[in-house]
Amino acid sequence: MKILVTAGSTREPLDPVRYLTNRSSGKMGYALANAGAQLGHHVTLVSGPTNLDIPINVDYVPVQTAQEMFEAVSVHIAGTDAAIFSAAVADYRPASFAENKIKKSEDRVTLELIRNADILGSARAEFSYEGVLVGFAAETENLEENARGKLQRKDCDLVVANDVSRAGIGFDSDHNEVLLVYPDRTDALPVETKDHLAHLIVQAVQELRIRKG
Ligand code: CTP
Repeated sequence: MKILVTAGSTREPLDPVRYLTNRSSGKMGYALANAGAQLGHHVTLVSGPTNLDIPINVDYVPVQTAQEMFEAVSVHIAGTDAAIFSAAVADYRPASFAENKIKKSEDRVTLELIRNADILGSARAEFSYEGVLVGFAAETENLEENARGKLQRKDCDLVVANDVSRAGIGFDSDHNEVLLVYPDRTDALPVETKDHLAHLIVQAVQELRIRKG
């Protein structure tokens, strides 16, 4: 199979020295890219900045912002059999970018943000994607219900859901505990290393691909 993976966080710049981002380490996405390559697939990894080594045997496409990730995905998703969106894309970016470093002024300032495009949510309608579509849901409450909402709204074949409020798993950890939420069922997986989970997720994607024909 040809598989596209998005990973890492995005950086939304405010000025030459500051940006908005989030706590995603990129570990799950890189583990997925590695697992895909190890299982013999052709993997393109579109990644925001991380501290991780670039996986071997994958096509690596580095990006910084959500807009750059959107453009890279719109190009590289074509012709793939499956697309796995594990990136923690910033939902908003600063409304303007200051060419020079912003100097401090009043005691209280207000930052205006505007919505970034939903890349996963654009796959079916905007990119006319017909391959296996996998999203991630990082939630702090109502895990399964919120993940199922995303599955339906973004027309996914699978949403991998994890509870980011729990200590010791998820963000920056080497372990995770996820629900695999499908249109017709939910599979709860036990706590696993991200490497092992990545293999299980790629195997689930292989099965979805076979079922899609
Ligand atoms: N995603 C994306 N582009 C965005 C935002 C999210 O591709 N601009 C993808 C993520 O990679 C992940 C999934 O969408 O696969 C997570 O969606 P999320 O932003 O949590 O979903 P929403 O439906 O926007 O819900 P929320 O209200 O929780 O923000």
